[in-house]
Amino acid sequence: MYDGDIASTLVTEQAIREKTAELAAQIAADHSAERSGSGRDSDLLLVGVLKGAVMFMTDLARALPVPVQLEFMAVTSYGSGTSSSGVVRILKDLDRDIAGRDVLIVEDIIDSGLTLSWLLKNLESRQPASLSVCTLLRKPDAVTVDVPVKYVGFDIPNEFVVGYGLDYAERYRDLPFIGTLDPSVYA
Ligand code: PRP
Ligand code: MN
Ligand code: MG
Repeated sequence: MYDGDIASTLVTEQAIREKTAELAAQIAADHSAERSGSGRDSDLLLVGVLKGAVMFMTDLARALPVPVQLEFMAVTSYGSGTSSSGVVRILKDLDRDIAGRDVLIVEDIIDSGLTLSWLLKNLESRQPASLSVCTLLRKPDAVTVDVPVKYVGFDIPNEFVVGYGLDYAERYRDLPFIGTLDPSVYA
């Protein structure tokens, strides 16, 4: 599959699985500590950012030992195709109100941090009881933008990565691991 396009494996399937279990245990413990009640409105609400977060979102949801509900948002940033401009437009909004809910934004990667920065402001204005972020991957630039990210799977170098939801021109999302893209693909 994708012969010659992947230069190296950065995060293996097994490493993703182990890290997801670790993050899930931490998230569940934090959620249980903060929420004493039970029932529909105390369920943790996962907000996955389409499309990149889909694989991580579904695996994380299944690894979490507490009830969760799933919502998705699709956003796009104006500007060039390779880096985000920070000007974000909603393509698909949440289906329901998040006021009073414990919300966890689920991302595959934080690169410049601009998408997340916008998303946090947007969701915060809807008055959730709590709002935090879980990302599988984080690149170095993201650390310079002031966005609070409570749960990070892996801090990775500034390379073009694909797989496990991450695409290059909509391809490679279906790879079960994270790899670096061979420069011949985009040269
Ligand atoms: C990618 C990635 C994050 C965002 C991170 O999504 O999935 O959502 O970019 O970039 P930033 O930190 O520089 O804002 P993309 O816009 O490519 O859409 P996709 O998830 O559908 O691939
Ligand atoms: Mn995305
Ligand atoms: Mg993309």
